[in-house]
Parts: sequence; structure tokens; C-alpha cells
Amino acid sequence: MITALRGMKDILPPQNEKYSYILENTAAIVKKYGFVFIETPILEETTLFKRSVGESSDIVGKEMYQFIDKGGNDVCLRPEGTAGVVRAFIEKKYDRQGGIHRFFYHGPMFRYERPQKGRFRQFHQFGVESFGVESYLEDAAIILMLKEILDFFGIRYTLKINSLGCSDCMPPYRETLMKFLDEKEGELCEDCQRRKATNPIRVFDCKNSKCQEVLIPAPRLRENLCASCDTHFNSLLTLLDAKGVAYEIDPNLVRGLDYYNKTAFEFVSGDLGAQNAVAGGGRYDKLVSFLDGKETPAIGFAIGIERLMEMIETPPKEREGYYFGALCEEAITPIFVAASKQRRTDKVTLSYDVRSLKAHLKAADKAGARYCAVIGEDELAQRQLWVKDLVEKEEEKRALE
Ligand code: HAM
Repeated sequence: MITALRGMKDILPPQNEKYSYILENTAAIVKKYGFVFIETPILEETTLFKRSVGESSDIVGKEMYQFIDKGGNDVCLRPEGTAGVVRAFIEKKYDRQGGIHRFFYHGPMFRYERPQKGRFRQFHQFGVESFGVESYLEDAAIILMLKEILDFFGIRYTLKINSLGCSDCMPPYRETLMKFLDEKEGELCEDCQRRKATNPIRVFDCKNSKCQEVLIPAPRLRENLCASCDTHFNSLLTLLDAKGVAYEIDPNLVRGLDYYNKTAFEFVSGDLGAQNAVAGGGRYDKLVSFLDGKETPAIGFAIGIERLMEMIETPPKEREGYYFGALCEEAITPIFVAASKQRRTDKVTLSYDVRSLKAHLKAADKAGARYCAVIGEDELAQRQLWVKDLVEKEEEKRALE
């Protein structure tokens, strides 16, 4: 028997209901904030991810589904959505137009990680990307929008937030951190020694308790932010306070992707287990120019749909539409015709079998229909349809026409 690949899952009933419920309601919320739907390819040139997500990240370094296609191109299944959206943004010359552009997308992402609870090799994200606003006001709006989404689904979470500085304050800070890490070299795990050589701030992401202890007295970026980043971060926090949004400043929050600057945030939940981030995002003001576009400030986030599904109940399904069935052989054609007509306006489940009324009523109930409509010999003679409302328990006859 052929089975799905390790770390890859089907989304089948009844989970499919939850999946659509999340997509529909999340899309409805982000549309209120002016985001429009876009779709970008799942396969992109490998270079795109190397240059955006970054060679020093685990995603690019260890987890890419990368291969050479039949034309000899080095391609990759997207591990995340931001890079493709930015590529499309530049390719379509939105950067040259200027102004504000807000997009949302959803679909599968691929990371060759070790599968565990809440961590898959193919998973789905709902993401948003906003281009053209430098102000902290957009950071606040984006965070509030994500909070509105998670509140809609009634989940419990903590908002963790940090500032990753910019190209002015990050390089001198990196020097300071390097000096500290050089002194602690022998005490760091192998991964952190590698991180030190590639992207030292990643050491804060280390889950090793020994490393975390060693890093307690490490210099922190928050105290080394330039005036502009400091003002940006403080203005954002003040606005979140004014809106009554609870957050935790987490100096260890560095995010696993290289393109971020200034604001970085994650919504984590104690209801999730070890993989506790339900959504994450941040600012990436340099990515558009880094990928050869015109410098454009940007910010976005992505929600892990499987992780959100894990935390919510399937919404109760309301009875909907019609079930049509024939009580005798001669009624098959008329019921088929009637069902086709009804489908112009309603959802219709049509039975192809001749059955008793009792059997049809049972099947209509199972199909989740609101109405059960049948044609038997009497109805045929009178050119009528017998209809029962399964909620109000009322019966009536309607003219077939
Ligand atoms: P990310 O933090 O790598 O960010 O992923 C966002 C969310 O995707 C995570 O919080 C998590 O819920 C979910 N996720 C990540 N990996 C897995 C996995 N292996 N299995 C299941 N769920 C997973 C990004 O991808 C950025 N592109 C977000 C962003 C958009 N930043 C700016 N704009």
C-alpha cells in the first residue's frame, strides 16, 4: 500500500471543515484591513530563498526540498511565503509604483524537519505582507489584526515581541556580541559555535539549557538599538499599551529567518506543546532592495494553520440545502431534473437509488440536509414534490415546476 510521505498529512473530513472555517474567517478579517488575495508558485528558484531567508538559517541550511529540474534549474519547494511574494512584488514593478500594497495568501509550505507534534514537512500557512509603510503604526495594525484573528478563534496565547535593530545598530552590536561569545566559546554547544560563525544573534534561539545559562549576561540588542529603532520600538509598545494589548518583551526572540529588522513578534500558546508558535512575523525593510527592487519598507506574518486547527473545535454544522430521492423507478428522471433545477440556488444531495421514504429521510439526515424532497407514484400523478423541513418538522407538497 502506498502511504503519504513522512511528515505530510491529508486534510480529510471532518478536519476539512475546520480548515475551510479558518481560511474563510481569517480572510474576512484581513480583507477589512485592506489586504487582497494573491497566489504565487510553490516552486521557486533556490537562489530566492538563499538570498532572502538566508544561508545561515536552519530553513535554508538544513531543511530545503531542493532539486534540479529537467531543464537543469536549481529549484526549491517554498519553505515559507514571504520570499515569493516579494519576488512577485518586484517582478510586477509594484516597488516602482510606490504607495501601499497589502497582500494575503495561504497554501502549503515545505521544510525537511524532523516531524513531531505540530511540526510537519508539508504544512500550511495563512500569511500577510504589507509594503510601503515605514511607520510603527503599521506594525501595530498588523499585530492587532493577528490578535483579532486569534481572538476570533478563541485561543489562548502570549504575544512575544522584540526589536532586531537595523543596518545601523545591528553591525556594531554584532561586534559586541562576538566579543562576548569569543570569551564563552568553550561553553557553547556545537550548533552555537556554528551560529557564532554564520549569524551570531541566532545563539539566542538555542534551546540548550547550558547555552541559555551562558547567555544570561550577554549584551542585548534592546540596550544597543540606535535612536531611530529605539523610538520605533517604544512608540509601538506605547500604542499596544494604549490599546490594552498584553505582550512580553523577549530579548531571545530572534526569529529563524534572516530578513527581519526592527519589530519581530510571535504568538505562542501553552496549549500547543513544544512547537508552541502559532504565528510569527516582523518587519523586513531591506528585503525588497536586497532582491534588487527599489527600497520599500515591509512587514508581515504567517499563521501555522495546522497549529491553529489543533487548538480549535470544529464549528457545529448547520443543516443546509436539500436531499432529493425517488420512491419508484419512474420517478428517477423527474427527481434528477428537479434536483438540477434546485442546484441553481441551493446545495442538493441527489440519491440515485429507489428507496422507501423512511430510508430517504434517514439518508437526508445523514447528509446534513435541511429539506428532504421525494417523488413517489402519487406525486408523479399530481406532478408534485413531497418536501419535509427536517428542522421545523413540517411537510408540504410543491408543484414540480
Ligand atoms: P515562521 O515563523 O517560520 O515565519 O512560520 C510561521 C508559522 O508557521 C509558525 O509560527 C508556525 O505556526 C508555522 N510553522 C512553521 N514551521 C512549521 C512546521 N514545520 N510544521 C507546522 N507548522 C509550522 C514565516 O514563515 C515567515 N514567512 C512569516 C512572515 C511573513 N514574516 C513576515 N512575513
